[in-house]
Amino acid sequence: MALLITGGAGYIGSHMMWAALDAGRSVVVLDNLSTGRRDAVADAATFIEGDVGDAALLDRIFNDHDIDAILHFAGSIIVPESVENPLLYYRNNTGNSRTLIEAAVRRAVPHFIFSSTAAVYGDPEVIPVAEDAPLGPLSPYGTSKLMTELMLQDTSAAHPLRFAALRYFNVAGADPDGRAGQATPNATHLIKVACQAALGQRDHLAVFGDDYDTPDGTGVRDYIHVSDLADAHMAALAYLEAGGASDVFNCGYGTGYSVMEVIAAVKDVSGVDFPVKVMPRRAGDSPKVVAKVDKLHAHMDWTPRHADLRHIIRTALAFEQQLNTGGRT
Ligand code: UD1
Repeated sequence: MALLITGGAGYIGSHMMWAALDAGRSVVVLDNLSTGRRDAVADAATFIEGDVGDAALLDRIFNDHDIDAILHFAGSIIVPESVENPLLYYRNNTGNSRTLIEAAVRRAVPHFIFSSTAAVYGDPEVIPVAEDAPLGPLSPYGTSKLMTELMLQDTSAAHPLRFAALRYFNVAGADPDGRAGQATPNATHLIKVACQAALGQRDHLAVFGDDYDTPDGTGVRDYIHVSDLADAHMAALAYLEAGGASDVFNCGYGTGYSVMEVIAAVKDVSGVDFPVKVMPRRAGDSPKVVAKVDKLHAHMDWTPRHADLRHIIRTALAFEQQLNTGGRT
């Protein structure tokens, strides 16, 4: 039996691949390499280059491999791009997910784990935000993910497929063993960008707004280490395999850090006092997004191993250095 990991050549998917291989599972990676990298895929995994929206290819994969669970990471993730090109997001995220879910039903795959996002909450009124909070995505990206959650909900009510949709908060850091990391060119994530500034690849770091209603005026987020997130998927798989009911779960630590706190930690860890410029607010940003994570802890055997902001930053910085020195290009 094998796990099908879509988007397994990308940032989070490649960490998932390592977590699954470390746990002794067989892995098939399906990735179209639009943003993922071939060299992120381990030799121990079977790699198939192709699109999640290609139903004939999916059938070939299900013919060739005995797939007992699908972990679906493939998709587009850039919020402003989704505002400019919504139909791209409804195709890549919603339409392609529909094709994959349909194939899962056709081939009687029992378990499906979906990469959802805190973006489904939009600007939450109550912090920390729980899974039953009102949903109101502020972008086509968030809506495209929410639509997939709804398709999974309706499909699991009508067919034997059971799913876990994991709503990620701010994913950061890199594999502590240096096997994977955030290698996407032009990434916009705060910790990645701050590490690039510390390494002199950017002449400054822009802070998008310091007049929010937060303790120091800058945005507050719940940063989760990518390896802990991958472990949460392994726990979700065990939950489904033990007969757990289809459901959605927040994935964060429940602790918020402001942009200024993150910058101070990156400066401290790197020892570099890079320039910081306060800029106007970025369109679509929430002031504060922090997860309520009681549900994940109540239902799953998950103990975070990397829940420390400085450790997250150390791993991100080490991977960024590795990218620079040509370990990976
Ligand atoms: C990320 C996720 C989104 C998820 C959200 C949950 C991606 C692409 N986005 O978005 O899916 O819903 O977490 O909380 O994975 N900032 C700066 N300067 C910079 C970069 C960022 O000040 O150069 C600030 C932002 O304004 C924000 C914070 O840092 O306050 C985090 O931003 P970012 O890392 O881009 O993630 P989110 O926009 O929160």
